[in-house]
Amino acid sequence: MAVVPYKEKNTSKKSQVAEMFDNISPKYDFLNHFLSLGIDIWWRKTALKRLKRYLKGKNIENLLDVATGTGDFALEAHTILAPKKIIGVDISEGMLSFGYPKIEKRGIKNIMSLEVGDSENLRFEDNSFDVVIVAFGVRNFENLEKGLANIFRVLKPNGYLLVLEFSKPKIFPLKQFYQLYFTSILPMVGRFVSKDNAAYTYLPESVQAFPDGYEFIDILLGIEFRNVECRTLTAGVCSAYYAQK
Ligand SMILES: C[S@@+](CC[C@H](N)C(=O)[O-])C[C@H]1O[C@@H](n2cnc3c(N)ncnc32)[C@H](O)[C@@H]1O
Repeated sequence: MAVVPYKEKNTSKKSQVAEMFDNISPKYDFLNHFLSLGIDIWWRKTALKRLKRYLKGKNIENLLDVATGTGDFALEAHTILAPKKIIGVDISEGMLSFGYPKIEKRGIKNIMSLEVGDSENLRFEDNSFDVVIVAFGVRNFENLEKGLANIFRVLKPNGYLLVLEFSKPKIFPLKQFYQLYFTSILPMVGRFVSKDNAAYTYLPESVQAFPDGYEFIDILLGIEFRNVECRTLTAGVCSAYYAQK
């Protein structure tokens, strides 16, 4: 059974996820940085810097950030990879509404744009993008394989995919500390600040259910991605997956 935020509702995972992110969007950036002690910023930067090394100085015409949310991963990609065009898509209009002002503030409206879009039904033509990135998004897809297959479709041949996602640390004592923090402290603080009772319970539940590590690598290989690699960050609390079409 799919892990959903609002278990009492009969609606699809996708509509519940969009509703949840709409609800927490005003507090999303603050809670992200607060609950991770700012480490999430470092994860995004580190993952993109490694991708830059894989790209070996190749010019990037265009980059797609799927599940862009409030746009932070795409903005970081602008700084680190300097693509000529960046498009961010997300199913939550609420999240996007906090991304637009960031683009305006940076003065990069001619380079970067955000729009409502679903990973499982991307409007772009086949072989359109040099790079596709997704941070903390794939775990929320209603149909993971369908979303990844769509990403594969819109990537150009030899194009790169970078997926950043929470994973489950396996070593003592981090595993135990993480378990306690993620299932007790984080939901309590998240609930208090965001006023959404379900969102920060859904977070640990969805991380627990997500096929991380080798399982995710197998899924990518099944979709015919090649050169698939996984790099763990912060002793496995987060993982960056790299793959090529
Ligand atoms: C945890 S946020 C991550 C946002 C951003 N990438 C970041 O690094 O902060 C997850 C985002 O995934 C989006 N999302 C979930 N399912 C999606 C889908 N099928 N297509 C596009 N976006 C989706 C949610 O609306 C939400 O904004």
